[in-house]
Amino acid sequence: MMRPEDHMIPGGANADIRPLTHGEGGLAWEGVAFDTLAEEFGSPLYVTSFPALRATTDSLRSALACSGLEGRLAFAVKANPVPGILGALVGQDVGLVVMSGHELHLALAVGVHRANIIVHGLSRHRDLAETAVFAHAGLIVAECLEDLALLERTASRARLPVEVALRVSPGLKRSRFFKVGGPGPAGFRPDSEDLETGLLMLSRSPYLRLNALSFHVGTGLSEASLYRRALLASRSVWRESLAQGLRPAVLDIGGGFGLSHVRTHTPGQLLASLLLQRGRAPRPGPTATSLMHQAGLAVKEVFAPLGEDGPRMIVAEPGRALVGPCQHLVVTVQSLGIRNGRRYAICDGGAMSLSPLLLGERHRIEPISGSGARTALYDLVGNTPAPLDLIASGVRLPVLHPGDRLLIRDVGAYFSCLGTNFSGPRPGIVGLDGERAFELRPAETFDHIFGHDTWTSRTQLVP
Ligand SMILES: Cc1ncc(COP(=O)(O)O)c(C=O)c1O
Repeated sequence: MMRPEDHMIPGGANADIRPLTHGEGGLAWEGVAFDTLAEEFGSPLYVTSFPALRATTDSLRSALACSGLEGRLAFAVKANPVPGILGALVGQDVGLVVMSGHELHLALAVGVHRANIIVHGLSRHRDLAETAVFAHAGLIVAECLEDLALLERTASRARLPVEVALRVSPGLKRSRFFKVGGPGPAGFRPDSEDLETGLLMLSRSPYLRLNALSFHVGTGLSEASLYRRALLASRSVWRESLAQGLRPAVLDIGGGFGLSHVRTHTPGQLLASLLLQRGRAPRPGPTATSLMHQAGLAVKEVFAPLGEDGPRMIVAEPGRALVGPCQHLVVTVQSLGIRNGRRYAICDGGAMSLSPLLLGERHRIEPISGSGARTALYDLVGNTPAPLDLIASGVRLPVLHPGDRLLIRDVGAYFSCLGTNFSGPRPGIVGLDGERAFELRPAETFDHIFGHDTWTSRTQLVP
């Protein structure tokens, strides 16, 4: 692999924790040129930096320390369920947050310590309770009375103790949930009948032990004030637990920390950008580390009145913040045209590798090679014959030619897992570590896509 000169590209602090460099071979990361990677592994291609994963983990973890409590990170598996990436995080002593039996099996397969598994999603997957109890998961989150009753039945049948985290409703208005893409009003509210009943169930159960309170305020957040509100609700629930003779030890503040260089659209903005075909470019906002730092400080302040009775450990469940900036996507321009006076470029990675519609995000995009002085505005689209297969509209780039490669940045979270093979195989994923490039997942082949199907050569279904 070639080693380009180290010429730093300016960027925002934590978002570019391992900055890109420009060299003879074009744009590069960790000393490896993206063009070289695409030639070796194909395009489109996800490129993951393991040094970036380690640096991001360290930076988020040290931000949590300002809470004055022992801090732990648990990665939300759904954000990037690639075993090679999960294994690297586990190697950094990061726990895993799982939301289905499938994810729980994956977590165990990559070797996470059982005590470092947090299980959410009992309401959506009723059989998850049994899998989680038998797996001795470190924390199982109950978000309603039905979840508690299910856990009680499962634990008593299995005769196994269960460490329960009670989900606290962060007390946001519905409109607010919608705005921040939040999870809806899941969880127990302070001073509610359900909470009273739930705490009673916990205090009487021989198997269930209330070990934690947990909340999750939303996703793609760029302000810490929402955490403060959720913390106030959690403090009330914490007090009610103490009054019931229960002594939780852990406060789990969930995920949701947004990325500095990723603009998250509200549904209205997304619709407007699609209709008007004009998107606002991402501009630097607060970094995930600074948001986590503010959340940590808020924990310290809000729980100070509880003294020794307050939390002893804080857990954060970042998905996007942990892996988002550690993976970029290489795409190649296939053809160019002009429609209704707008220039467009059809790329080989559109809806099947990006899901701006589902995520409502806009990312930084830059050329990998060639930096002609002349620039133009482009709508970048994928190769699916559907108008919504849009990577981004109105991106200023050097005048493009077929074969040019572009880099879509900070796509480590919710991209490869949301990709489809509607119009072609899903991209491969490579890892970079110490100037080494290695395959984490090869690009899909015909067999990957159709290998499970059953058919005869005459296309008749086998009985
Ligand atoms: C309970 C919980 N924790 C963590 C996360 C990760 O969120 P994010 O990727 O926004 O950090 C999610 C995602 O929706 C979640 O539901």
